[in-house]
Amino acid sequence: MGRNHARVLSSLDGVELVGAMDPAGDPTGAARGAPVVATLPELLALGLDYAVVACPTSLHEGIGLALAADGVCALIEKPLAHSAAAARRLADAFDRAGLVAGVGHIERFNPALQSLRSRLEAGELGEMFQVVTRRQGPFPQRIADVGVVKDLATHDIDLTSWVTGCPYASVAARTLSKSGRPHEDMVAVVGELTNGTMVSHLVNWLSPLKERFTAVTGEHGCFIADTLTADLTFHANGAVATEWEALSNFRGAAEGDMVRYAIPKREPLLVEHERFRDAVEGKGTDIVTLEQGLRTVEVAEAVLDSARRKAYLPLQSPHPPNLAAVTQRS
Ligand SMILES: NC(=O)c1ccc[n+]([C@@H]2O[C@H](COP(=O)([O-])OP(=O)(O)OC[C@H]3O[C@@H](n4cnc5c(N)ncnc54)[C@H](O)[C@@H]3O)[C@@H](O)[C@H]2O)c1
Repeated sequence: MGRNHARVLSSLDGVELVGAMDPAGDPTGAARGAPVVATLPELLALGLDYAVVACPTSLHEGIGLALAADGVCALIEKPLAHSAAAARRLADAFDRAGLVAGVGHIERFNPALQSLRSRLEAGELGEMFQVVTRRQGPFPQRIADVGVVKDLATHDIDLTSWVTGCPYASVAARTLSKSGRPHEDMVAVVGELTNGTMVSHLVNWLSPLKERFTAVTGEHGCFIADTLTADLTFHANGAVATEWEALSNFRGAAEGDMVRYAIPKREPLLVEHERFRDAVEGKGTDIVTLEQGLRTVEVAEAVLDSARRKAYLPLQSPHPPNLAAVTQRS
């Protein structure tokens, strides 16, 4: 992921990529000619305005706290940290230091989900009934220092709260570990948001297909967002009364028109970086806050706890409103 951040940062207006840190070096030239150092003191010596933390999740806390202590703003990859306690320490440290900090929940910048959120906000669905997500695929070719719940399902948890504007009230989950690694690699979650919307998430690293699916069903029909292709479609409930007696007595939904929206498809990572750059420059606030990132890790921990205890878990009410590449603004 650091390679992708470096690619975007190296051509982002108003930003100069001054260096990267990776103890493994940069054998493939991912830093695009910027110096690559092995330690944090060397990195900080480059004089940074902000940094992107894209190392393994279990290292986010240590590196993030060191950046905050040195007065460096940070965009920290998702999940914010390997535990809710660590995420809380990060949120507190950046807050105390008065620094801009954000979490790389990139799905929020996917054009399909941005359009979906605007349409839900505009009331196009009427009453919301259910959010369903599926995020399935093969094993990642990288270190999995956390399980699939914290690594992948945090995308689903964050996007669900964000598109609906509503926090989780409860979760119940089951997990499986089939790959021989220490953490779970498959999860099924059923939950409820505080407005009564029901949610379900199927997330795993055990599927030979790759799927990134979000469906929101409500009074007027169903939106389907595919965040691999950035497509958003709407399946409307039919308005024409059916003549068939058996069906006309049925008071559920009927099949209506289907619309696939033509939406501009900008690269989500570029949009995420534009928003973060603007926030650092004091020109915008449209970033994922550390409080929001913390809340997502808390819900992920409740999912794991529910699976361990085979129990339905209510969530505490939410907290008040939420690297490899390094940059210096020119
Ligand atoms: N937003 C997204 O869609 C997305 C996608 C992939 C990964 N991620 C997140 O990005 C982070 C990294 O994931 P990845 O897939 O790139 O992992 P990876 O294992 O492919 O790469 C991690 C890199 O960090 C380096 N590293 C190890 N220790 C370091 C240290 N102390 N300081 C700096 N670099 C160090 C490693 O040498 C390696 O180059 C994870 O938190 C992951 O959850 C986010």
